[in-house]
Amino acid sequence: MVKVGVAGYGVIGQRLADGVALQKDMELVGIADLAPTLSIRALREKGMPYDLYLVEGADKAQFDAAGIPYKGSFHDLIGKVDVMLDSSPGGVGAKNKELYEKAGVKAIFQGGEKNSVADVFFHGYANYEKGLGANYLKLTSCNTTGLIRSVDCLDRAYGVDRVAITIIRRAADPGDYHRGLTNALQMDKAPSHQALDLMTIMPHVEATGILVHTPVTHGHIITVVAHGKNGKKITRDMALEAFKTHDRIRVVRLADGFLGNASFFRYARDLGNPRGDMYEIGLWEDSIVESGDNIMYAINIPQESVTIPETMDGIRAAMKMQSDSRSATGETNKYLGLGKWKK
Ligand SMILES: NC(=O)c1ccc[n+]([C@@H]2O[C@H](COP(=O)([O-])OP(=O)(O)OC[C@H]3O[C@@H](n4cnc5c(N)ncnc54)[C@H](O)[C@@H]3O)[C@@H](O)[C@H]2O)c1
Repeated sequence: MVKVGVAGYGVIGQRLADGVALQKDMELVGIADLAPTLSIRALREKGMPYDLYLVEGADKAQFDAAGIPYKGSFHDLIGKVDVMLDSSPGGVGAKNKELYEKAGVKAIFQGGEKNSVADVFFHGYANYEKGLGANYLKLTSCNTTGLIRSVDCLDRAYGVDRVAITIIRRAADPGDYHRGLTNALQMDKAPSHQALDLMTIMPHVEATGILVHTPVTHGHIITVVAHGKNGKKITRDMALEAFKTHDRIRVVRLADGFLGNASFFRYARDLGNPRGDMYEIGLWEDSIVESGDNIMYAINIPQESVTIPETMDGIRAAMKMQSDSRSATGETNKYLGLGKWKK
């Protein structure tokens, strides 16, 4: 059993912890955090299914006052694991890395860290093999994770040499107050980092794109225009066939009620998924269109949960649990129940 710890039990960390707990070939040793946040208080009310360790600077008196038990220090947790999943706030992971290095423990960082924090910028489908045995991986951000899933899907099936994307980006996660209440769209400077990140992971694809922030919380939407490699046109039928076979892409139709980002959130809640999470991206069948030699489509990114499967793949790569992407993603998908909607 590979022993795993999670640093930072926030939006991403609590989902990573649940994801690891579902992997039958991994053991979640514990989680670490700094403050008795709402997520930590909810963990206590659930009966502490995961052991808590306190990072340096945590005020123990606050945890004691809230009746939240802890097992020890961050240092203790690091000493018990093979790999740490670091989901502390962006930039903090780079500082935590010094502790991981000292202890000789591998670590996987999330999208808010600089690329330089890791040896490999990682995606479970597009470059799994590069992560094999690596000490430090960094996951792509939520948008890039979902975007690469769909582009890699077409690339593997038919070859892709160029993409252009538009990202309609949610401004905050549900429950965030610190980002303010807004009623405006905001432009980012092009090309968006997701297009540049895609080229880092898939260097054979030329990518560019525009990002627009929107005052919503339930998911991003990305439109993608893709061009087949060597001028080989990808038709609507070809794209649909490839997307339908992918276990991390849920193909949906407007006529069935999937009208937009909020429909996915509602459907996930109706399924009884914890927190209304979806590990898969949504892809509208009705959005797939041809434009000359290009194929165009739109995907929905559930930002809080989409990076969890690829992070599990990252553990598999770093610990050399499987030697190739196909078998590693297959194991992760099996334990997370991905692709089950096709049965
Ligand atoms: N929120 C998203 O939708 C999303 C999506 C993909 C990737 N990410 C990335 O995931 C990472 C975490 O983001 P988040 O949204 O989960 O943040 P968050 O603020 O919800 O959670 C961070 C947690 O880390 C804790 N923390 C603070 N200092 C710490 C320390 N020194 N050591 C350990 N824990 C500490 C905080 O108390 C908090 O519980 C970031 O890199 C972010 O860019 C976020």
